[in-house]
Amino acid sequence: MSRIVYVNGEYLPEEDAKISVFDRGFLMADAVYEVTSIIDGKMLDFAGHATRLERSLNEIDMKQPCTMAELEAIHRELMARNDLTEGLIYLQVSRGVADRDFVYPDVAPTLVLFTQAKSVLDSPLAKNGMKVISIPDIRWGRRDIKTVQLLAPSMGKMAAKAAGADDAWLVEDGFVTEGTSNNAYIVLENGTIVTRDLSHDILSGITRAAVLRFAAEAQIKVEERPFTIDEAKAAKEAFVTSATTFVGPVVEIDGTEIGDGKVGNTARRLREIYLAESLKSAI
Ligand code: PDD
Repeated sequence: MSRIVYVNGEYLPEEDAKISVFDRGFLMADAVYEVTSIIDGKMLDFAGHATRLERSLNEIDMKQPCTMAELEAIHRELMARNDLTEGLIYLQVSRGVADRDFVYPDVAPTLVLFTQAKSVLDSPLAKNGMKVISIPDIRWGRRDIKTVQLLAPSMGKMAAKAAGADDAWLVEDGFVTEGTSNNAYIVLENGTIVTRDLSHDILSGITRAAVLRFAAEAQIKVEERPFTIDEAKAAKEAFVTSATTFVGPVVEIDGTEIGDGKVGNTARRLREIYLAESLKSAI
């Protein structure tokens, strides 16, 4: 059975869902996106994703396709039409359709949403931990805007795969920025969590915000500052966060085991807290 996807006001079988070849998302990556996890038929952190979408749109002077309440209703309708109880909803807004020109056209935005049914809770990488490699961060300078320019992260994932690893951490001027599609953390011997401070250099993760809040509530000390790969290799633990991995333990960096090479207690505990708390407030 094919999925029902949403395109500009219509719910269509995926084979019938079409966008113009002149869409600026297609031609120029002039589009922003969000990914929201669904568990037990409920959205995790929807308000956070909606707020970040508004910010991304504002930062590139793109029109809002609809109100955030309408967006929530579309998410719900898609879940219902696709019987989605666990997985993801992907949302993309592009500037719209116009003859190719570098100057922004004054047109209506294109709004697309689709579901991906998958098991997000029961992940082997969460159980066993992931291996990462470090590679140069070759992305543009506004990583705080969640645009669909995802070739550099795709190249990073392919480099990881070729090296027999699961993901890559990106390094700029000697310091880790973030993972290809997640925020990066280390845990020091004294239990303090270190993760890069927010700026144009990284995406302000919705999961990051929640996890740092829960860490503070659990009396875990957090330092928001850059760290190097050498510091990470010497750390007690490492992990990543994202809407799709939640808290994902990292057990190896560039072939060096982190701590005892097993999933760390802090990462395991934060994953449990994140899931329990997020499910409580899921809508
Ligand atoms: N990626 N940093 C980058 C570069 C990301 O692409 C993502 C998310 C994150 C984590 O943000 P959040 O916690 O809000 O998911 C950090 C999504 C999941 C993706 O592209 O599929």
